[in-house]
Amino acid sequence: MNYKEINKKAWDKRTQVHVDSKFYAVPAFLAGKSTLNPVELEQVGDVQGKNLLHLQCHFGQDTLSWARLGAQVTGVDLSTASIKKAQQLAQKMGIKAHFINDDIYSFGAANQQQFDIVYTSYGVLCWLPDLNQWAQTIANSLKIGGQFNIVEFHPFNDLLSGYSYFPTENPDIEEDGTYTENCTGEKSTMVTWPHTISEVVQSLLNAGLTIDEFHEYPYSPYDCFADLEFVQGKGYQLLFKGQQVPILYSIKAFKN
Ligand SMILES: C[S@@+](CC[C@H](N)C(=O)[O-])C[C@H]1O[C@@H](n2cnc3c(N)ncnc32)[C@H](O)[C@@H]1O
Repeated sequence: MNYKEINKKAWDKRTQVHVDSKFYAVPAFLAGKSTLNPVELEQVGDVQGKNLLHLQCHFGQDTLSWARLGAQVTGVDLSTASIKKAQQLAQKMGIKAHFINDDIYSFGAANQQQFDIVYTSYGVLCWLPDLNQWAQTIANSLKIGGQFNIVEFHPFNDLLSGYSYFPTENPDIEEDGTYTENCTGEKSTMVTWPHTISEVVQSLLNAGLTIDEFHEYPYSPYDCFADLEFVQGKGYQLLFKGQQVPILYSIKAFKN
């Protein structure tokens, strides 16, 4: 099974649906609205004059939002359609940005550049079979003193939706639509892997990074899962037996 080909096809198909969606709000973004949320803005901090690598950047709105804040940005993504759209957006906005269409592992094997910041967010890890290789790519892509930030959906939500929390021998292979409101119901095959929180943390430690901050959050900025409730001024929460489920987590790590 060539999981990269399967997932690339799915993300290529999803890209135009996402570009056309209210969820991704491209017209507001082009008019100047940042797509970054308070969690990552606070976690990443000042990016002015820094070079920032965005792994799994999709069609680049977050990457270009970092550029608007003064970063020199490079985005990497498996989907050719996503990278083409990211390049078009950058050109339209007159922003200098470098977008690379590659799988994260082959990018990691070929990359010679070292960055001040490596950033990745919201729905990225489930597409990757091997987190040690992921973390090694991050460590190799950072300068000494460089910073890594991830903001990711918490696996508790997947567990409560019936997926394994712990690693499984085989990936999940499913036919599914997408998470934006304009999904027509058309399905693609997707291959994903569950990753525990400890696996994420341990992979970063194995790669020699120093973890500086780890946080869990009860609110998501995105309405992209079943049964979320909107709480004014906070975001979307998931309740289980009346209690808040951790819905996001963030990690800040350094290369010393
Ligand atoms: C949920 S999106 C990332 C979320 C992003 N914050 C957004 O919504 O704009 C996941 C991205 O991972 C990319 N991806 C999946 N597998 C990948 C791989 N092996 N290497 C690089 N990118 C990959 C997909 O093409 C997709 O653009």
